[in-house]
Amino acid sequence: MQNQCFFWLHMLLFMCFCVGPSSGFNATAAKANVGVVLDLDTTLGKICKTCISMAIEDFYSNLDYNTMIEPHFRDSRSDVVIAASAAIDLLKNAEVMAIIGPQKSFQAHFVIDIGDKVEVPIISPATSPSVSPKDSSYFIRSAWCSSSQVRAIAAIVKKFGWREVVFVYEDTNYGSGLVPYLTVDLLKSNVLVSHQSVISSDATEDQIRQELFKLMKMRTRVFVVHMLPGLASHFFKVAKEAGMMDKGYAWLIADVLTSLLDSMDPRTMEAMQGVLGVKAYVPYFVKLLDFKKRWRKRFHIEYPEMDGTELNVLGLWAYDSIIVLAEAIERAGLTSLQFNRSVDSGNLMDLDSIGTSLAGPSLVRWIRNYTSRGLSGDFNISNGELQPSAFEIVNVNGKKEIPVGFWTEHCGISRELKSDDHQEDCLTGNTNLDPIVWPGKETKVPKGWEIAVSGEKFRVGIPAKTSFSEFSVVEKNEETGVVEAKGYCIDVFEAVWEKIPYHVPVEYVPYDTTDGGYNELSQKMDEEGLDALVGDLTVTASRSEHVDFTVSYTESGVAILVPMRANKGKNAWIFMKPLTTGLWLTIGTFFVYTGFVVWVLEHRVNKAFQGPPNQQVGMIFWFSFSTLVFAHREKVTSNLTRFVVIIWVFVVLVLTSSHTANLSSMLTVYQLQPKINDVNDLVKNGEFVGYQLGSFVRGFLTNNGILPSSSLKSYSTVEQFHEALSKGSRNGGVGAVIDELPYIRLLLSKHCDKYTMIGPIYPTSGLGFAFPKGSPLVFDVSREILRLKEDKDLMMRITKKWLGDEKHCPYADGALSTSQRLNLDSFKGLFVIAGVSSTLALAIFLSHFLYENRYVLESTASRKEKLLGLARVFSREKDESLSPEETRCPDCGVEQQQVQP
Ligand SMILES: *[C@@H]1O[C@H](CO)[C@@H](O)[C@H](O)[C@H]1NC(C)=O
Ligand SMILES: *[C@@H]1O[C@H](CO)[C@@H](O)[C@H](O)[C@H]1NC(C)=O
Ligand SMILES: *[C@@H]1O[C@H](CO)[C@@H](O)[C@H](O)[C@H]1NC(C)=O
Ligand SMILES: *[C@@H]1O[C@H](CO)[C@@H](O)[C@H](O)[C@H]1NC(C)=O
Repeated sequence: MQNQCFFWLHMLLFMCFCVGPSSGFNATAAKANVGVVLDLDTTLGKICKTCISMAIEDFYSNLDYNTMIEPHFRDSRSDVVIAASAAIDLLKNAEVMAIIGPQKSFQAHFVIDIGDKVEVPIISPATSPSVSPKDSSYFIRSAWCSSSQVRAIAAIVKKFGWREVVFVYEDTNYGSGLVPYLTVDLLKSNVLVSHQSVISSDATEDQIRQELFKLMKMRTRVFVVHMLPGLASHFFKVAKEAGMMDKGYAWLIADVLTSLLDSMDPRTMEAMQGVLGVKAYVPYFVKLLDFKKRWRKRFHIEYPEMDGTELNVLGLWAYDSIIVLAEAIERAGLTSLQFNRSVDSGNLMDLDSIGTSLAGPSLVRWIRNYTSRGLSGDFNISNGELQPSAFEIVNVNGKKEIPVGFWTEHCGISRELKSDDHQEDCLTGNTNLDPIVWPGKETKVPKGWEIAVSGEKFRVGIPAKTSFSEFSVVEKNEETGVVEAKGYCIDVFEAVWEKIPYHVPVEYVPYDTTDGGYNELSQKMDEEGLDALVGDLTVTASRSEHVDFTVSYTESGVAILVPMRANKGKNAWIFMKPLTTGLWLTIGTFFVYTGFVVWVLEHRVNKAFQGPPNQQVGMIFWFSFSTLVFAHREKVTSNLTRFVVIIWVFVVLVLTSSHTANLSSMLTVYQLQPKINDVNDLVKNGEFVGYQLGSFVRGFLTNNGILPSSSLKSYSTVEQFHEALSKGSRNGGVGAVIDELPYIRLLLSKHCDKYTMIGPIYPTSGLGFAFPKGSPLVFDVSREILRLKEDKDLMMRITKKWLGDEKHCPYADGALSTSQRLNLDSFKGLFVIAGVSSTLALAIFLSHFLYENRYVLESTASRKEKLLGLARVFSREKDESLSPEETRCPDCGVEQQQVQP
């Protein structure tokens, strides 16, 4: 911080004293030797050289510095050895303080090692992650590490919904450096690098062609290309010839190639139409535009034969690197002695005789942690490498690349970038890219995956079987030779296929499944070149080892189908069934009790309850039982009786209606009860069980020890199942059928009144479509199946068409639970009310009666005589016509008056 203040102060002073543009450099400034190793045979080398020269001039023309960089240019001619020997030459003979370059990662490797040894900073734009400032403390990467763009590439791949990419790279340090990063970062977005294609950097067109033909045969149509312009130029021209720059393909190129598109020849650019690329974004500002103008002029003077060459970001980074280095040298200062050489260096090897740089450590400390605003934008070197900021996404269209959006670590893909001040908050609602013109002048985003290699049809395997033709059946039309398929599964598949954006004609291929069932089929799928399997194929774990399944499109689960039986023999006593014996006894008791209470209450006042004893006993039963049908004609006179009777009638009403309801349900439902309630009953009864030939159910039942294989019998059509079930186990048929829900439902809908279903007893995964392992179609088809399942109408129509409508089957769902017999608990409350009210009435009556006849109790007679007396009083009829005074006690008026005071 202090350093920077100092620097700005310096600059301010200078500007105050020197009015107008400076005329030149400080002639007395100390010269700082700096080596520059560039591939001067390449355009990029020339661009950088001009930039470096201009940077030195710009820096020292404006400020009065005590030091001044003296560049020593060396041409490494795109060669590792020449680059290394140039570096040694610079260190030994020019005694340089730092080396800029070399340009390429493979050249940089060795030079960096030398730099470490002699403690001289190596400022190289090597982008490959295989050279890292972490490993070499004197290496400073003056470009964005190529691994930093991988997340931008992954974001683009994800944005367009591609699931697989092919990575094509040149067989150099630079090319392969990206492989691990690309693979990992794409995987994080669930994208697979399905293939890696390595192309030698000096491959002939024929070799490239061969490699491209290999790629063409694959289904992935998204290619990420990471190579240098030299190879890329050949590569794309050959790709264009091979027809791979056409509709349906997507090409992504990585930086540095994208940044160097300017230097491509027009024929290559024409071949690259529609290519998408990422490159370092350089924000435009006046100083940059001004520099570009000056640079163009200067470059034209230096290389008049290379007209039309454009300045690129690597040139700007070279410019900014020089500025950083110049400041660092100014800070470090210069001593007369550059290297600390061992005294007796006579017979040592070259490198040892160089010694170690004295200024190196302080220079590198300063440069490796430096931030400023340079021509290329924020020039932030931290941890020894230039930190990436925003990536620009470009689309090759016409003669040049057109920006279509940006990618930043913070905001992801966006159409616009916010101004620097507000980088924290991302612009919302602008995550789309500008319109992109894809290869073949296509405006629709390529699917990225070809479901069939061009020209071929999509081969769908259909099991050729005779069983359950409702699900799928294939027939070869003898006249036309066309294979036709129909059935439930085919209809579902076609409904799904219609919605999938790959418009490829489907070809049905019949398959023999008689041997080994479906397990074999899935395994053979690859060998036979099938693209999908459609049919009544159950999703199972063992099959999914060979194929990938979609989600299932049917109900899932295994259920039992059992015949229902008519219930004969027990019908004579069915009226007793609705109520439990306990309840019957309780009801009987209450009838008698209530009859008795009514008799007690009525006996003295009601003629109907009088007469000979047997008459009265009969009355007790008659009265209470006649309430059962509300047929009691006897008029009751006492209010207490009315109270008891009305409560009792209410209880009887509830009881009879409950009985009626339960009985009627028993009469209808009881007959339909299946013979078997669960799997254990099958084993216990020794029943034979039918299963579908070739179905996984057999294995499922025997492997899990649910049923012994000896009790299993296989069938393959609805009719066979029906016949076997009708016969029953004892007559050579089966007692039940165990199968998956869809089949059980089909059987049910055909023979609705004879069978019922129990279960699903075991969960399974239902029917699904199968695709070869790793097929991206699985996701698309699964999504469409889910949509179809949510669209009840269409699915219902297909189901109804093939599997029938089981709406009219009342017992299809095995809802045949037996009616529960009603027990005492259900009516406890009722009985309590009835009991309490009767007993209460009885108690009131008795207390009243005893009170009226208290003289009997108060007499001195023995207990037995007292009771007899009371009984006698009770059995006498109470005369209603008497006056109330007499009514109280017609016979004992005298005694009463006697007692009363
Ligand atoms: C030129 O550099 C010398 C040191 O080498 C310094 O003392 C002097 O002030 C500089 N002159 C100008 C005009 O900046
Ligand atoms: C030069 O190197 C030697 C050992 O290699 C060391 O002892 C000496 O201090 C160094 N001199 C300077 C000026 O750093
Ligand atoms: C880098 O420089 C900043 C100030 O410019 C300082 O705060 C920071 O500690 C430095 N980091 C390292 C690793 O030297
Ligand atoms: C420079 O980059 C480092 C690492 O990404 C970051 O922590 C630091 O804030 C950056 N400095 C500036 C001034 O942007």
